[in-house]
Amino acid sequence: MQIYLVGGAVRDELLNYPVYDKDWVVVGATPEEMIKNGYRPVGSDFPVFIHPKTGEEYALARTERKSGKGYSGFQYHASPDVTLEEDLSRRDLTINAMAKSSSGELIDPYGGQNDLATKQLRHVSPAFSEDPLRVLRVARFAARYVHLGFTVAAPTLKLMQAIASTDELSHLTKERIWQEMERALSERSPLTFFNVLEQANALEQLFPPFTTLVNNDKAQQIAAQFTDTTETKVRFAALCYVCFHTLSEAQTKLEQFCRDLRTQNQTRELAIHTLIAHPQLQCWSSLSAENKLALIKQLDLLRRPERLPPLQASTRLLSDENTNAGELLANLCEELKGINPKALMNDGYKGAALGEEIAKRQIAICELF
Ligand code: CTP
Repeated sequence: MQIYLVGGAVRDELLNYPVYDKDWVVVGATPEEMIKNGYRPVGSDFPVFIHPKTGEEYALARTERKSGKGYSGFQYHASPDVTLEEDLSRRDLTINAMAKSSSGELIDPYGGQNDLATKQLRHVSPAFSEDPLRVLRVARFAARYVHLGFTVAAPTLKLMQAIASTDELSHLTKERIWQEMERALSERSPLTFFNVLEQANALEQLFPPFTTLVNNDKAQQIAAQFTDTTETKVRFAALCYVCFHTLSEAQTKLEQFCRDLRTQNQTRELAIHTLIAHPQLQCWSSLSAENKLALIKQLDLLRRPERLPPLQASTRLLSDENTNAGELLANLCEELKGINPKALMNDGYKGAALGEEIAKRQIAICELF
Protein backbone atom coordinates (compact mmCIF):
# COMPACT_ATOMS: atom_id res chain seq x y z
CA MET A 1 0.00 0.00 0.00
CA GLN A 2 1.07 3.59 -0.60
CA ILE A 3 0.19 6.37 1.80
CA TYR A 4 -0.14 10.03 0.79
CA LEU A 5 -0.78 13.23 2.70
CA VAL A 6 -3.77 14.96 1.05
CA GLY A 7 -6.17 17.87 1.18
CA GLY A 8 -5.86 20.84 3.50
CA ALA A 9 -2.49 19.84 4.96
CA VAL A 10 -0.79 19.88 1.56
CA ARG A 11 -2.50 23.15 0.61
CA ASP A 12 -1.63 24.93 3.85
CA GLU A 13 1.96 23.69 3.85
CA LEU A 14 2.41 25.22 0.38
CA LEU A 15 0.80 28.45 1.63
CA ASN A 16 3.10 28.47 4.67
CA TYR A 17 0.04 28.24 6.85
CA PRO A 18 0.08 26.26 10.08
CA VAL A 19 -1.16 22.70 9.54
CA TYR A 20 -3.47 21.44 12.29
CA ASP A 21 -5.20 18.44 10.72
CA LYS A 22 -3.48 15.85 8.61
CA ASP A 23 -5.56 13.66 6.31
CA TRP A 24 -4.07 10.68 4.56
CA VAL A 25 -5.10 8.59 1.58
CA VAL A 26 -4.16 4.94 1.32
CA VAL A 27 -3.89 3.44 -2.17
CA GLY A 28 -3.84 -0.30 -2.84
CA ALA A 29 -5.14 -1.53 0.52
CA THR A 30 -8.21 -3.37 1.75
CA PRO A 31 -10.08 -2.68 5.02
CA GLU A 32 -8.83 -6.03 6.34
CA GLU A 33 -5.19 -5.01 5.77
CA MET A 34 -5.78 -1.70 7.55
CA ILE A 35 -7.28 -3.45 10.58
CA LYS A 36 -4.44 -5.99 10.55
CA ASN A 37 -1.98 -3.09 10.73
CA GLY A 38 -3.70 -1.70 13.83
CA TYR A 39 -5.86 1.05 12.26
CA ARG A 40 -9.31 1.45 13.81
CA PRO A 41 -12.29 1.74 11.44
CA VAL A 42 -14.33 4.95 11.92
CA GLY A 43 -17.64 3.28 11.10
CA SER A 44 -18.63 -0.12 9.90
CA ASP A 45 -19.41 0.92 6.32
CA PHE A 46 -17.07 3.85 5.59
CA PRO A 47 -13.51 3.33 4.34
CA VAL A 48 -11.86 5.65 6.85
CA PHE A 49 -9.52 4.49 9.62
CA ILE A 50 -7.84 6.09 12.59
CA HIS A 51 -4.11 5.66 13.11
CA PRO A 52 -3.59 3.88 16.44
CA LYS A 53 -0.90 6.30 17.64
CA THR A 54 -1.42 9.69 15.94
CA GLY A 55 -5.24 9.58 15.83
CA GLU A 56 -5.06 10.96 12.26
CA GLU A 57 -7.50 9.90 9.54
CA TYR A 58 -6.45 7.44 6.87
CA ALA A 59 -9.00 6.99 4.09
CA LEU A 60 -8.87 4.27 1.48
CA ALA A 61 -8.73 5.82 -1.99
CA ARG A 62 -12.30 6.00 -3.26
CA THR A 63 -14.53 7.29 -5.98
CA GLU A 64 -17.94 8.73 -5.21
CA ARG A 65 -21.21 9.00 -7.01
CA LYS A 66 -24.19 11.01 -5.99
CA SER A 67 -27.25 8.93 -5.30
CA GLY A 68 -29.58 11.28 -3.44
CA LYS A 69 -30.10 14.78 -2.15
CA GLY A 70 -27.91 16.91 0.06
CA TYR A 71 -24.66 15.93 1.64
CA SER A 72 -25.52 12.39 2.65
CA GLY A 73 -26.70 10.92 -0.62
CA PHE A 74 -23.41 9.40 -1.78
CA GLN A 75 -22.39 6.00 -2.98
CA TYR A 76 -18.71 5.41 -2.77
CA HIS A 77 -16.48 2.82 -4.25
CA ALA A 78 -13.29 1.99 -2.37
CA SER A 79 -11.09 -0.81 -3.60
CA PRO A 80 -7.35 -1.42 -3.93
CA ASP A 81 -7.55 -0.58 -7.64
CA VAL A 82 -8.79 3.01 -7.15
CA THR A 83 -5.89 5.26 -8.10
CA LEU A 84 -4.68 8.35 -6.28
CA GLU A 85 -5.68 10.50 -9.29
CA GLU A 86 -9.21 9.08 -9.18
CA ASP A 87 -9.46 9.84 -5.49
CA LEU A 88 -8.18 13.40 -6.01
CA SER A 89 -10.63 13.98 -8.87
CA ARG A 90 -13.68 13.66 -6.55
CA ARG A 91 -12.47 16.56 -4.41
CA ASP A 92 -13.89 20.07 -4.32
CA LEU A 93 -11.13 22.54 -5.23
CA THR A 94 -7.89 22.11 -7.13
CA ILE A 95 -5.96 23.54 -4.18
CA ASN A 96 -7.49 20.77 -2.04
CA ALA A 97 -6.76 18.05 -4.61
CA MET A 98 -3.00 17.69 -4.22
CA ALA A 99 -1.13 14.90 -2.48
CA LYS A 100 2.36 14.41 -1.09
CA SER A 101 4.11 11.05 -1.07
CA SER A 102 6.21 9.79 1.82
CA SER A 103 9.34 10.79 -0.14
CA GLY A 104 8.07 14.37 -0.41
CA GLU A 105 6.98 14.26 -4.06
CA LEU A 106 4.00 16.48 -4.84
CA ILE A 107 1.21 14.92 -6.93
CA ASP A 108 -0.89 17.63 -8.52
CA PRO A 109 -2.95 16.32 -11.45
CA TYR A 110 -5.53 19.16 -11.49
CA GLY A 111 -3.39 22.30 -11.36
CA GLY A 112 -3.59 23.07 -7.66
CA GLN A 113 -0.14 24.66 -7.52
CA ASN A 114 -0.96 26.93 -10.42
CA ASP A 115 -4.21 27.97 -8.74
CA LEU A 116 -2.32 28.64 -5.51
CA ALA A 117 0.06 30.87 -7.48
CA THR A 118 -2.75 32.68 -9.30
CA LYS A 119 -4.91 32.67 -6.15
CA GLN A 120 -7.95 30.96 -7.59
CA LEU A 121 -10.52 28.87 -5.78
CA ARG A 122 -11.35 26.59 -8.69
CA HIS A 123 -13.38 23.38 -8.80
CA VAL A 124 -11.69 20.18 -9.89
CA SER A 125 -14.44 18.79 -12.11
CA PRO A 126 -18.18 19.04 -12.76
CA ALA A 127 -18.59 16.53 -9.89
CA PHE A 128 -18.16 19.61 -7.67
CA SER A 129 -21.92 20.10 -8.05
CA GLU A 130 -22.69 16.73 -6.49
CA ASP A 131 -22.13 18.15 -3.04
CA PRO A 132 -24.08 21.32 -2.19
CA LEU A 133 -22.06 21.81 0.99
CA ARG A 134 -19.27 22.94 -1.29
CA VAL A 135 -21.09 26.22 -1.90
CA LEU A 136 -20.50 26.99 1.76
CA ARG A 137 -17.01 25.53 1.79
CA VAL A 138 -15.83 27.71 -1.09
CA ALA A 139 -17.27 30.79 0.60
CA ARG A 140 -15.46 29.77 3.78
CA PHE A 141 -12.14 29.28 2.00
CA ALA A 142 -12.63 32.71 0.44
CA ALA A 143 -13.12 34.15 3.94
CA ARG A 144 -9.88 32.49 4.99
CA TYR A 145 -7.69 33.45 2.07
CA VAL A 146 -9.13 36.66 0.60
CA HIS A 147 -6.45 38.77 2.32
CA LEU A 148 -3.87 36.81 0.28
CA GLY A 149 -5.70 37.83 -2.89
CA PHE A 150 -7.74 34.67 -3.48
CA THR A 151 -10.99 34.90 -5.42
CA VAL A 152 -13.53 32.36 -6.62
CA ALA A 153 -12.81 31.39 -10.24
CA ALA A 154 -15.63 32.53 -12.52
CA PRO A 155 -16.60 29.03 -13.75
CA THR A 156 -16.72 27.83 -10.13
CA LEU A 157 -18.98 30.69 -9.14
CA LYS A 158 -21.24 29.68 -12.04
CA LEU A 159 -21.46 26.14 -10.67
CA MET A 160 -22.26 27.54 -7.23
CA GLN A 161 -25.04 29.64 -8.73
CA ALA A 162 -26.35 26.60 -10.56
CA ILE A 163 -26.47 24.62 -7.30
CA ALA A 164 -28.24 27.51 -5.57
CA SER A 165 -30.84 27.64 -8.34
CA THR A 166 -31.99 24.10 -7.49
CA ASP A 167 -33.40 22.84 -4.18
CA GLU A 168 -30.10 21.15 -3.26
CA LEU A 169 -29.16 23.61 -0.51
CA SER A 170 -32.42 22.91 1.30
CA HIS A 171 -31.34 19.30 1.73
CA LEU A 172 -28.27 20.17 3.77
CA THR A 173 -28.69 19.52 7.46
CA LYS A 174 -28.93 22.55 9.76
CA GLU A 175 -25.99 21.21 11.75
CA ARG A 176 -23.75 21.16 8.66
CA ILE A 177 -24.78 24.67 7.69
CA TRP A 178 -24.11 26.07 11.15
CA GLN A 179 -20.80 24.21 11.31
CA GLU A 180 -19.66 25.93 8.11
CA MET A 181 -20.95 29.33 9.19
CA GLU A 182 -19.34 29.03 12.60
CA ARG A 183 -16.02 28.12 11.01
CA ALA A 184 -16.38 30.96 8.51
CA LEU A 185 -17.05 33.43 11.32
CA SER A 186 -13.77 32.44 12.92
CA GLU A 187 -11.83 33.10 9.71
CA ARG A 188 -9.83 36.22 9.06
CA SER A 189 -12.44 37.90 6.80
CA PRO A 190 -15.85 36.56 7.83
CA LEU A 191 -17.82 39.07 5.76
CA THR A 192 -16.30 37.59 2.62
CA PHE A 193 -18.18 34.38 3.44
CA PHE A 194 -21.48 36.23 3.18
CA ASN A 195 -20.39 38.24 0.12
CA VAL A 196 -19.44 35.11 -1.79
CA LEU A 197 -22.70 33.39 -0.82
CA GLU A 198 -24.53 36.46 -2.08
CA GLN A 199 -22.63 36.30 -5.39
CA ALA A 200 -23.63 32.64 -5.62
CA ASN A 201 -27.30 33.63 -5.04
CA ALA A 202 -27.26 31.42 -1.95
CA LEU A 203 -27.29 33.92 0.91
CA GLU A 204 -31.02 34.64 0.84
CA GLN A 205 -31.77 30.92 0.93
CA LEU A 206 -29.29 30.01 3.63
CA PHE A 207 -29.27 32.98 6.01
CA PRO A 208 -32.02 35.44 4.95
CA PRO A 209 -31.39 38.04 7.71
CA PHE A 210 -27.69 38.17 6.84
CA THR A 211 -28.34 39.65 3.40
CA THR A 212 -28.19 42.93 5.35
CA LEU A 213 -24.46 42.39 5.83
CA VAL A 214 -23.61 42.76 2.16
CA ASN A 215 -22.06 46.19 1.49
CA ASN A 216 -22.93 47.25 5.03
CA ASP A 217 -20.60 49.94 6.45
CA LYS A 218 -21.39 49.13 10.07
CA ALA A 219 -20.66 45.44 9.52
CA GLN A 220 -17.36 46.35 7.91
CA GLN A 221 -16.47 48.63 10.79
CA ILE A 222 -17.21 45.80 13.22
CA ALA A 223 -15.32 43.15 11.26
CA ALA A 224 -12.31 45.46 10.98
CA GLN A 225 -11.99 45.27 14.77
CA PHE A 226 -11.91 41.47 14.92
CA THR A 227 -8.64 40.10 16.20
CA ASP A 228 -7.37 36.53 16.53
CA THR A 229 -8.79 36.47 20.03
CA THR A 230 -12.29 37.72 19.17
CA GLU A 231 -14.46 34.74 19.98
CA THR A 232 -16.77 33.40 17.27
CA LYS A 233 -19.88 33.87 19.40
CA VAL A 234 -18.89 37.51 19.98
CA ARG A 235 -18.46 38.05 16.23
CA PHE A 236 -21.81 36.38 15.59
CA ALA A 237 -23.60 38.46 18.24
CA ALA A 238 -22.27 41.77 16.90
CA LEU A 239 -23.18 40.89 13.30
CA CYS A 240 -26.64 39.67 14.37
CA TYR A 241 -27.18 43.02 16.06
CA VAL A 242 -26.55 44.79 12.76
CA CYS A 243 -29.07 42.55 10.98
CA PHE A 244 -31.82 42.50 13.58
CA HIS A 245 -31.85 45.65 15.66
CA THR A 246 -34.07 47.65 13.32
CA LEU A 247 -36.64 44.89 12.81
CA SER A 248 -39.96 44.80 14.61
CA GLU A 249 -40.10 41.97 17.15
CA ALA A 250 -36.35 41.74 16.72
CA GLN A 251 -35.79 39.57 19.78
CA THR A 252 -38.33 36.94 18.76
CA LYS A 253 -36.93 36.85 15.24
CA LEU A 254 -33.33 36.58 16.43
CA GLU A 255 -34.28 33.81 18.84
CA GLN A 256 -35.97 31.91 16.01
CA PHE A 257 -33.02 32.49 13.66
CA CYS A 258 -30.59 31.05 16.21
CA ARG A 259 -32.82 28.09 16.96
CA ASP A 260 -33.26 27.37 13.25
CA LEU A 261 -29.49 27.53 12.82
CA ARG A 262 -29.00 25.17 15.79
CA THR A 263 -26.42 27.45 17.37
CA GLN A 264 -25.11 26.56 20.80
CA ASN A 265 -27.19 27.99 23.68
CA GLN A 266 -24.38 30.31 24.74
CA THR A 267 -24.15 31.71 21.22
CA ARG A 268 -27.88 32.34 21.06
CA GLU A 269 -27.95 33.90 24.51
CA LEU A 270 -25.10 36.25 23.76
CA ALA A 271 -26.72 37.39 20.50
CA ILE A 272 -29.98 38.12 22.32
CA HIS A 273 -28.31 39.78 25.28
CA THR A 274 -26.32 41.98 22.91
CA LEU A 275 -29.53 42.99 21.18
CA ILE A 276 -31.06 43.90 24.53
CA ALA A 277 -28.04 45.47 26.21
CA HIS A 278 -26.31 47.47 23.49
CA PRO A 279 -28.98 50.20 23.12
CA GLN A 280 -29.01 50.61 26.89
CA LEU A 281 -25.24 50.68 27.26
CA GLN A 282 -25.10 53.35 24.56
CA CYS A 283 -27.07 55.71 26.81
CA TRP A 284 -25.81 54.29 30.11
CA SER A 285 -25.24 57.64 31.82
CA SER A 286 -28.84 58.70 31.25
CA LEU A 287 -30.37 55.37 32.34
CA SER A 288 -32.23 55.40 35.65
CA ALA A 289 -30.97 53.25 38.52
CA GLU A 290 -34.14 51.17 38.16
CA ASN A 291 -33.44 50.52 34.48
CA LYS A 292 -29.84 49.55 35.19
CA LEU A 293 -30.98 47.06 37.81
CA ALA A 294 -33.72 45.74 35.53
CA LEU A 295 -31.17 45.11 32.78
CA ILE A 296 -28.87 43.22 35.13
CA LYS A 297 -31.76 41.12 36.35
CA GLN A 298 -33.12 40.49 32.87
CA LEU A 299 -29.74 39.11 31.78
CA ASP A 300 -29.25 37.35 35.13
CA LEU A 301 -25.75 38.80 35.37
CA LEU A 302 -25.39 38.45 39.14
CA ARG A 303 -25.90 34.71 39.05
CA ARG A 304 -24.22 34.25 35.66
CA PRO A 305 -21.12 36.46 35.81
CA GLU A 306 -19.53 34.46 32.97
CA ARG A 307 -21.97 36.23 30.66
CA LEU A 308 -20.32 39.59 31.21
CA PRO A 309 -16.96 39.39 29.38
CA PRO A 310 -18.41 38.26 26.02
CA LEU A 311 -21.22 40.81 26.36
CA GLN A 312 -18.68 43.54 27.02
CA ALA A 313 -16.75 42.40 23.95
CA SER A 314 -19.76 42.29 21.60
CA THR A 315 -21.12 45.67 22.72
CA ARG A 316 -17.67 47.24 22.49
CA LEU A 317 -17.47 46.13 18.86
CA LEU A 318 -20.79 47.86 18.21
CA SER A 319 -19.92 51.14 19.93
CA ASP A 320 -19.00 54.08 17.75
CA GLU A 321 -17.21 55.87 20.53
CA ASN A 322 -14.73 54.64 23.02
CA THR A 323 -17.21 54.04 25.80
CA ASN A 324 -16.60 52.42 29.15
CA ALA A 325 -20.26 51.49 29.72
CA GLY A 326 -19.50 47.77 29.61
CA GLU A 327 -16.88 48.23 32.28
CA LEU A 328 -19.28 50.26 34.42
CA LEU A 329 -21.85 47.49 34.07
CA ALA A 330 -19.27 44.92 35.20
CA ASN A 331 -18.18 47.06 38.15
CA LEU A 332 -21.78 47.64 39.13
CA CYS A 333 -22.46 43.88 39.12
CA GLU A 334 -19.42 43.38 41.31
CA GLU A 335 -20.68 45.96 43.83
CA LEU A 336 -24.19 44.49 43.83
CA LYS A 337 -22.77 41.09 44.65
CA GLY A 338 -21.38 42.66 47.83
CA ILE A 339 -24.88 42.96 49.32
CA ASN A 340 -25.00 40.15 51.84
CA PRO A 341 -28.50 38.86 52.69
CA LYS A 342 -27.11 36.81 55.60
CA ALA A 343 -25.68 39.91 57.23
CA LEU A 344 -29.02 41.66 56.75
CA MET A 345 -30.80 38.70 58.37
CA ASN A 346 -28.41 38.96 61.31
CA ASP A 347 -29.46 42.60 61.53
CA GLY A 348 -33.05 41.42 61.95
CA TYR A 349 -34.46 41.73 58.41
CA LYS A 350 -36.69 38.88 57.32
CA GLY A 351 -39.49 38.01 54.90
CA ALA A 352 -40.78 40.86 52.76
CA ALA A 353 -38.75 43.40 54.72
CA LEU A 354 -35.54 41.58 53.78
CA GLY A 355 -36.51 41.70 50.08
CA GLU A 356 -37.33 45.40 50.30
CA GLU A 357 -34.05 46.23 52.03
CA ILE A 358 -32.05 44.34 49.38
CA ALA A 359 -33.90 46.16 46.59
CA LYS A 360 -33.33 49.53 48.32
CA ARG A 361 -29.62 48.88 48.64
CA GLN A 362 -29.39 47.65 45.06
CA ILE A 363 -30.98 50.84 43.75
CA ALA A 364 -28.73 52.95 45.96
CA ILE A 365 -25.67 51.23 44.45
CA CYS A 366 -27.02 51.57 40.90
CA GLU A 367 -27.32 55.31 41.48
CA LEU A 368 -23.56 55.51 41.98
CA PHE A 369 -22.76 54.07 38.51
N1 CTP B 1 -13.45 17.50 0.61
C1 CTP B 1 -14.22 17.69 -0.52
N2 CTP B 1 -15.53 18.04 -0.41
C2 CTP B 1 -16.09 18.20 0.81
C3 CTP B 1 -15.33 18.00 1.97
C4 CTP B 1 -14.00 17.66 1.85
O1 CTP B 1 -13.71 17.56 -1.61
N3 CTP B 1 -17.38 18.54 0.92
C5 CTP B 1 -12.05 17.08 0.48
C6 CTP B 1 -11.08 18.19 0.13
O2 CTP B 1 -10.07 17.63 -0.66
C7 CTP B 1 -10.51 18.60 1.48
C8 CTP B 1 -10.43 17.25 2.19
O3 CTP B 1 -11.57 16.53 1.69
O4 CTP B 1 -9.25 19.20 1.36
C9 CTP B 1 -10.48 17.33 3.69
O5 CTP B 1 -11.64 17.99 4.10
P1 CTP B 1 -11.68 18.92 5.37
O6 CTP B 1 -10.84 18.37 6.45
O7 CTP B 1 -13.12 19.23 5.64
O8 CTP B 1 -11.08 20.28 4.82
P2 CTP B 1 -9.64 20.85 4.68
O9 CTP B 1 -9.39 21.07 3.23
O10 CTP B 1 -8.64 20.00 5.42
O11 CTP B 1 -9.79 22.28 5.27
P3 CTP B 1 -9.74 22.81 6.75
O12 CTP B 1 -8.41 23.48 6.82
O13 CTP B 1 -10.86 23.76 6.80
O14 CTP B 1 -9.90 21.63 7.66
